[in-house]
Amino acid sequence: MNAGILGVGKYVPSHILTNEDLEKRMDTSDEWIRTMTGIEERRIAADDMDTSHMAYHAAVDAIENSGVSPEEIGLILVATVTPDRPFPSVSTMLQEQLGAKNAAAMDVSAACAGFMYGLVTAKQFVESSSYDYVLVVGVEKLSKITDWDDRNTAVLFGDGAGAAVVGRVSEGRGILSFELGADGSGGKHLYQDEKLIMNGREVFKFAVRQMGQSAMNVIEKAGLDKEDVDYLIPHQANIRIMEASRERLGLPIEKMSKTIHKYGNTSAASIPISLVDDLAEGKVKDDDVIVFVGFGGGLTWGAICMRWGK
Ligand code: COA
Repeated sequence: MNAGILGVGKYVPSHILTNEDLEKRMDTSDEWIRTMTGIEERRIAADDMDTSHMAYHAAVDAIENSGVSPEEIGLILVATVTPDRPFPSVSTMLQEQLGAKNAAAMDVSAACAGFMYGLVTAKQFVESSSYDYVLVVGVEKLSKITDWDDRNTAVLFGDGAGAAVVGRVSEGRGILSFELGADGSGGKHLYQDEKLIMNGREVFKFAVRQMGQSAMNVIEKAGLDKEDVDYLIPHQANIRIMEASRERLGLPIEKMSKTIHKYGNTSAASIPISLVDDLAEGKVKDDDVIVFVGFGGGLTWGAICMRWGK
């Protein structure tokens, strides 16, 4: 019996911050940002829209889409590194707001790989029959830890939330294989010390290497070849990193999810937000083999190979 995704949802703030807006605030250019990252604009949450609020909107959307009722959810996992406050966790705030009174709740801290860690954790609880339904949310309000005086990082990030309800799916569908990993020795390259601090070069090199390798590993673990892959949803950090993983899999350009131009890097939210947009545009269809792959601060990484459908 496999665990799979029964419903998805997303929320992005309405306020758009364009590259041109950033040109007015710091020494950068639309051309540099587009060429070096693929980002054209990002969403920024208002002061009164905190992480839990974005998580709530995405979660409501995913629960409705799944047809499951909040009372049926056994566990809520929220992947975030920008919680409203250290505790109570965002997941417990959600539990109350959703009326998911039978759910346990905890936050997952794995930075941009957080949604992968959350999905894999959900799979374990579903496949062991511990819980019928697990709600997984990836959400970040990165704007509150962004150093707006640092052009090396300020242009990269955006706010948003994506969510999925995980439960049992029919034979042959759902999560076929996964890989999670960490290398704490790389923690110094990307961390928060009040504001976000990053060694872009080092993170870039790590990401190019790890994304391609992890994607290949989960394809092999699923007993498949890269030719069997219908669609790749990489963490949306930088178009050049995403392209490197697509090329490693030998996929044509239309078989890779790309939402980075609209939302920037939304960390733990980027993969579920992309999935929602891809489903809406008919890019992901029943029985497609999809590879999700993410990486982030920690350093952490995670990949999943899934056959789409309930
Ligand atoms: N606008 C204009 N110029 C900028 C700039 C900006 N926003 N940011 C940096 N630059 C300049 C640098 O100052 C440097 O100038 P110099 O050559 O005069 O010193 C030049 O551009 C190259 O900078 P560098 O940092 O070496 O470029 P890079 O090729 O490493 O690209 C990133 C920078 C951030 C785009 C790239 O390193 C990256 O994407 N890294 C991964 C980041 C990431 O994904 N983080 C999240 C992980 S989840």
